[in-house]
Amino acid sequence: MSASPNGGLGQRFAELFPFDWETIRHAGAEPVPFHLKKWWFCLGGTPMYLFIVQVATGIMLTFYYVPSPDHAYASVDAITTQIRFGWFIRSIHMWSSNFMIVAVILHMLRVFFTRAYRQPRQLNWMVGFMLLGLTMTFGFTGYSLVYEQLSYWGATVATNLANAVPVVGPLIAYFMRGGAEIGPQTLTRFYMLHIGVLPLLAFGLLSLHVLLIRMHGVTELQFEGEEPPEERRFFRFWPEHVTTELMIGVLLMYLLTILALIFPASLGAPADPTVTPAHIKPEWYFYWDFRLLQLTSLKVSVLLTGLLGGIAFFWPFIDGWLERRSKNVDLIVVVVGVVAFLGFLGLTIWEAVAY
Ligand code: HEM
Repeated sequence: MSASPNGGLGQRFAELFPFDWETIRHAGAEPVPFHLKKWWFCLGGTPMYLFIVQVATGIMLTFYYVPSPDHAYASVDAITTQIRFGWFIRSIHMWSSNFMIVAVILHMLRVFFTRAYRQPRQLNWMVGFMLLGLTMTFGFTGYSLVYEQLSYWGATVATNLANAVPVVGPLIAYFMRGGAEIGPQTLTRFYMLHIGVLPLLAFGLLSLHVLLIRMHGVTELQFEGEEPPEERRFFRFWPEHVTTELMIGVLLMYLLTILALIFPASLGAPADPTVTPAHIKPEWYFYWDFRLLQLTSLKVSVLLTGLLGGIAFFWPFIDGWLERRSKNVDLIVVVVGVVAFLGFLGLTIWEAVAY
């Protein structure tokens, strides 16, 4: 029989639910490197928190959203204008999804520039990269559900891009559309992906990500000169680190509420498959790829995206390869990171101001 947390009522509960509370106590007392006291080092907790906000607000929206081409737009319109607090829940869902993308990108930059992906954390970098892809797919499928003109045509461009992927492209595009063309099946698929498949995948990958972090521990910073004493190198996960994370959560909720009040989620014209808009705009985090598409061709942009994605996915191994050949890997990493980030930012701003 496992130990009770504090006797009395706790003892009764421990009998009803014979869980090894010692394990929880032990896990909570895990020392965490001191640099996690700085918010930019524990940015991984932010998308985790926002994911919970997304699930909670998403469930509320699901009560009113109708996933059929004839009713989808009208149901979003009703959520925005008629359902009590519908506009607010929809706005929090929209702002939180954008914050989540920003937080994941910032977390990835922190991991990249501190080279925290090195051995033995290569696999966790890859799991994290899949989480980035998943977060963007959440955004893409969610935007398509609104069934307004821009979201409909954004989905059309995305399925055309998928179609241009060598070998497996046509199969992926067929699966996304639910047929040779975009049709009623497409919306049902995006809906199932958005509320079923992606959350399950995200839950699985997040669990694996956290499990690997727990098994490896968070990377300790290397100190130049004399090492600080133990109490300046570590602090406790519970309650110190959890308190920092909770404070960040409260601040985020504040920010999301203010943004939802000042800039509530809007609704464009309804989707019209017969009228192609003059300028198609996807979500902002796809701008860079959309600009690439316009600067090159469908095939070249797909190949470039695949190549860049592949380099990013396998970066820990490329870093290891460089490490064995050069003494200046720290500098190379900074240059690669700055060029990649500025490239992303430049293409994004270019697309944003283009029309
Ligand atoms: C939904 C997305 C993600 C969540 C919720 C998440 C969560 C976390 C958390 C809580 C940590 C612990 C330390 C910290 O807070 O920085 C962490 C560490 C880590 N993450 Fe993520 N992460 C996500 C995406 C990513 C991405 C996109 C990458 C990289 C491609 C990545 C790679 C890593 C690595 C390598 C570590 C270990 C860092 C170290 O040991 O210092 N994660 N993640």
